[in-house]
Amino acid sequence: MLSEALSKALSEQVNAEYYSAYLYQAMSAYADRAGFKGIANWLSIQAKEEMAHGVHMYEHILERGGTPSFGDVKAPPSSYKSIREVFEKVLAHEIHVTERINKIASLSMQENDHATYNFILWYVNEQIEEEKNAEDIIAKIAIMGDNTGLIYHLDMELAGRTFTDPFPAAAADTAAG
Ligand SMILES: [Fe+2]
Ligand SMILES: [Fe+2]
Repeated sequence: MLSEALSKALSEQVNAEYYSAYLYQAMSAYADRAGFKGIANWLSIQAKEEMAHGVHMYEHILERGGTPSFGDVKAPPSSYKSIREVFEKVLAHEIHVTERINKIASLSMQENDHATYNFILWYVNEQIEEEKNAEDIIAKIAIMGDNTGLIYHLDMELAGRTFTDPFPAAAADTAAG
């Protein structure tokens, strides 16, 4: 059974994943309004992925006999200076999320909760990808040097992203009842 401390830490992380979704949706709105529909698409899919991270973690709390707790989801910033600033903020946010996930991993180790440790490792690995995705896009923007015409190429590239459920097996379980 999940300890009270881990129940609280995981619930707070569910909230943080919902906040990530809200943040990326706000960034997507900014990109859309600025005419970058492809970048808006990428950020909107990222928002969906964050929701899936939150729901999956919430389900783990219940599965382990914990009690999920709920708090306010804070409002994300809604105005940005540039696409470059958006992705710099994505990276800074993902680095912050990695720290949070690492703390949960440390807490589950301290408590000898191997099931939660094993569960949270998926998120530890996911954070490697999340940070790298943001770094790669920032590197491309650095080459483009805030040139709107060139950013349009990035826009076309990011338009190609499609949503893949990060937990397809869990979705199949649910479907099978
Ligand atoms: Fe996430
Ligand atoms: Fe991801």
